[in-house]
Amino acid sequence: MEPSKPSFLRNVLVKAFLFCVIMILFRFAYVVTLRGESCDLGDFCFFSKPEALNPIVGTGKIAASSAIISVDGEPKLDLYTRKEWRKAVDFYSSIFQDLIAEGYLDQKSKALCVETLTGQDVFALKEIGVKDTIGISKKASPPLVTSGQTEKLKFKNNSFDFVFSGNGMIDQSKNQMNFAEEITRTLKPEGFLVIHTVFKDTYSFNSLLDLFSSCELIRFREIHGFDSSMPEIREIVFKKLPLSSIHGGIAKFHGNLDNKCFVPEHKRELVRSAEPLIVEEPLKPWITLKRNIKNVKYLPSMVDISYKPRYVYIDVGARGYGSSIVSWFKKQYPKQNKTFEVYAIEADKSFHEEYKTKKGVKLLPYAAWVRNETLSFEISHNPDPSSEERGGRGMGRIQPVKSKGSSVREVDKIQGFDFANWVKNTVSEQDFVVMKMDVEGTEFDLIPRLFETGAICLIDEIFLECHYNRWQKCCPGQRSSKYEKTYGQCLDLLNSLRESGVLVHQWW
Ligand SMILES: *[C@@H]1O[C@H](CO)[C@@H](O)[C@H](O)[C@H]1NC(C)=O
Ligand SMILES: *[C@@H]1O[C@H](CO)[C@@H](O)[C@H](O)[C@H]1NC(C)=O
Ligand SMILES: *[C@@H]1O[C@H](CO)[C@@H](O)[C@H](O)[C@H]1NC(C)=O
Repeated sequence: MEPSKPSFLRNVLVKAFLFCVIMILFRFAYVVTLRGESCDLGDFCFFSKPEALNPIVGTGKIAASSAIISVDGEPKLDLYTRKEWRKAVDFYSSIFQDLIAEGYLDQKSKALCVETLTGQDVFALKEIGVKDTIGISKKASPPLVTSGQTEKLKFKNNSFDFVFSGNGMIDQSKNQMNFAEEITRTLKPEGFLVIHTVFKDTYSFNSLLDLFSSCELIRFREIHGFDSSMPEIREIVFKKLPLSSIHGGIAKFHGNLDNKCFVPEHKRELVRSAEPLIVEEPLKPWITLKRNIKNVKYLPSMVDISYKPRYVYIDVGARGYGSSIVSWFKKQYPKQNKTFEVYAIEADKSFHEEYKTKKGVKLLPYAAWVRNETLSFEISHNPDPSSEERGGRGMGRIQPVKSKGSSVREVDKIQGFDFANWVKNTVSEQDFVVMKMDVEGTEFDLIPRLFETGAICLIDEIFLECHYNRWQKCCPGQRSSKYEKTYGQCLDLLNSLRESGVLVHQWW
């Protein structure tokens, strides 16, 4: 039987139709597998973005975009069908549902997710009904994420009920202090802030908490992450303090009436894990003490020193630039890639010239003392051997100018300043501060003054040379007559520091 004309036509039409279907399917596969992220092909596109999905930009009203989730529950954009995406969304959904159950979040909350990569957290919030949610990231990812920097948020003060920072993004910020300040600024008083961070150690955890001075810590817990980039997450929930009780960050720490600082247990623990003090008076101090520097357990070798707004090194009795700043601090002190501000405190004029050409070092050409006053300064012509090694004249004991007339030794007049007061005006509790002190016996005045004023609490780690009537290298069996204190008194000073939770090491 010959095919009739119409059936021939039908055959052709069916073939043409099948061809079209195959082409369409092929293109579909191409769009999904190759284009990945977004459907932005001008000529041909399966997934047009619904109107309500238009990116939420600017500071204007934030549109509620419930249309993200389509009627039949199938996500609309190709990205949202990916397995990894769904896994992340499910992870965030369960996190947020817990927070809802605990009362830190509800569907009426106005929420912000900062540094969200492609907006899985934003998506999860919208999906569970927190519709008024916006995401922000360096790179926009419409429609969920608008572009902007967390360190400089484009939202007004007190805008959100809930702010979320996931994925350890605060750890990666170059300016963690600003990051913390900005997210608390945009949070309403009594609003909740949830941070996902990498837990390193208790010291760095506490440094992180210190960045949120206008918040109270509600709780923290460990959770498993959703991929290998962050297998373990520490989740921290903060509540922003009501307006009435926010006192400007730093003032909180210095405001103690009795100038006593609270030393947390984790700092005491660090002191306990430090190298032991040398209990027996060394017979050859010029060898024993110098070698001891190899046993020192530096603070940054025990803990992570991230989350600090500033890193400061104060060299009290710095002598020459090459002496301890270069030969020890720059070369040996573990700095975890942080840039330190360096202060050199040195009263001896003969060292001042070389500091003029050194960048990144601030010289204070005065003597660290307990108050502002003019002092007499002995220039010792036969300094002890260890100080000779580090070059230059040894700086003698200092004393108020009125107490003693000049005797046989040469005496210079120098300006002394209130060191403890200067420390309090220069650094804050949140800063990371290392101090080396080599002041020819004046430590017996300066250290008690640091305690008295509370300035001691601002210093994280101290390297202290304690001066006593030590055995002399030159003359066996003879003690140095330069200092009156004994080794026992030095040990008492060092022990009192450690017992107060101050990490002090013996300097030579
Ligand atoms: C917003 O808050 C910051 C500190 O959180 C404050 O310095 C600033 O003055 C506030 N701005 C306005 C407009 O209130
Ligand atoms: C310091 O930086 C270098 C290179 O930028 C890097 O290889 C190293 O791991 C960093 N060290 C620390 C302790 O972060
Ligand atoms: C000491 O001098 C410094 C610098 O001139 C000044 O800021 C400080 O207030 C003075 N301290 C006292 C107690 O007078």
